Amino acid sequence: MPRAPRKAPPTAFVIFGITGDLAARKLLPALFQLHRQGALDPSSLIVGYGRSPLSDEELRERLRAALADHAAPLDEAAWDSLRDRIHYVQGGYRDDAGYARLAERLASWDPTHRVFYTATPPETYEAIVRGLAGAGLHREDAGWSRLVIEKPFGDDVESARELNRHVLEHFREEQIYRIDHYLAKETAQNLAVLRFANSIFEPVWSNRYVDHVQITMIEPMGVEGRGSFYESAGVLRDVFQNHLLQLVALVAMEPPARYDAGSVRDEKVKVFSALRCARPERAVFGQYTAQDGMLGYRQEEGVDPRSRQATFAAVELELRNWRWSGVPFDLRSGKRLETKATEIVLQFKTPPHVPFDLPAPLRADRLVLRIVPDEGIVLRFNGKRPGQGIDLDRIDLDFHYGRSFDRPVPDAYETLLLDVMLGDATLFMRADEVEAQWRVVMPLLERLEGSDTEPSYYPAGSMGPQAAYALLEDEGRYWHRPAAD
Ligand code: BG6
Repeated sequence: MPRAPRKAPPTAFVIFGITGDLAARKLLPALFQLHRQGALDPSSLIVGYGRSPLSDEELRERLRAALADHAAPLDEAAWDSLRDRIHYVQGGYRDDAGYARLAERLASWDPTHRVFYTATPPETYEAIVRGLAGAGLHREDAGWSRLVIEKPFGDDVESARELNRHVLEHFREEQIYRIDHYLAKETAQNLAVLRFANSIFEPVWSNRYVDHVQITMIEPMGVEGRGSFYESAGVLRDVFQNHLLQLVALVAMEPPARYDAGSVRDEKVKVFSALRCARPERAVFGQYTAQDGMLGYRQEEGVDPRSRQATFAAVELELRNWRWSGVPFDLRSGKRLETKATEIVLQFKTPPHVPFDLPAPLRADRLVLRIVPDEGIVLRFNGKRPGQGIDLDRIDLDFHYGRSFDRPVPDAYETLLLDVMLGDATLFMRADEVEAQWRVVMPLLERLEGSDTEPSYYPAGSMGPQAAYALLEDEGRYWHRPAAD
């Protein structure tokens, strides 16, 4: 029997930072899509809260323009049926009267359930939580109240712990949704299905058969107007502590008894507590320089012209547990690189004995999980080339979501926002999980920030610093080229 479509109960979706970039690029298009699909209750509301003096009408005009840019072509009928349900409340993040106004307006509307979303700079999170609690908006008298906190959650293990402490003073853990949109990408979710709904992969999913694992997340975008944020975040806080480590956990975790928030997060925490940076002193940090009309990092607005911040990193992690001991997990990520790609590669070992007389060493099998942009899975193995005698060739079993299913792949934010409204926290991070993730990256941050090492420079548009290649070559491995070879 087909599963009933997922539908959210009547909810007021309050966005702090509604006129910002995240709201325009991700949150509004996702809410709009959910509305078009009928997943939002017809009485649901979108409420913006911010410092700018805007009327409801002015906000609607701005959001319409944002949607026309980011969800083109705009479905006018769907917009017409949503626009009157968009409202604005003016107030500062540290302004008690503003939160009181918000509480009053929320009380005057129908939806009993509330989501509060911090699409604001991280330094505002504590004030927002305090303001909401001060106005009693954390209470769950008539309906539920949920808080979504964007990444980065803290900027080191101490500040993450402090932020957890602060938020948990007012909200219960079950009310808190710490977001990492990578977890909701289809292939990331499919990784659990591939591993735990099939019997052919799990037996080879360990140090017995896997030689090493690689995760690459690269993008051609630079810091795109976020120079001052990036100066304090850098690649380690922006994507390693969260997206990349979450992908490691999905690859490495033990099969949970149930696919629910408690069981999945328990398993991920076990991975993070066994995960170490193999040799932090060998990690490679890079920074992009000007090339072909593209600015170098140090020329970007908001960036210190002598900045040593890393816009690229390549590191080797190791998992000290029974399943993965001895299997390097090589991770790399960077901005202003040649292409946009996020891929996980499981490189298998070569067979113990090859009975054929081959002109070149046998190449090992490889499973590639493509997360971005062309979501899919490729199993690359050796096959016989047609003809006399035994000559080998590489063959692909190639699965693409786009080709195999005649339905669109939802954007990660669509999945996540609906999950929040449905109370499913499986794809969100728990307090202990975020802290455990910070513990893994701390030695890297200490190395980067505690020394006066210059980053390795790489030209914008290239594939990153040479040192990243040397890192693996020294150990007889090499980086797989994304979506190629
Ligand atoms: C965000 C980072 O979390 O992820 C950005 O802050 C990065 O720097 C982005 O560009 C990448 O996400 P996606 O979904 O485009 O791969």
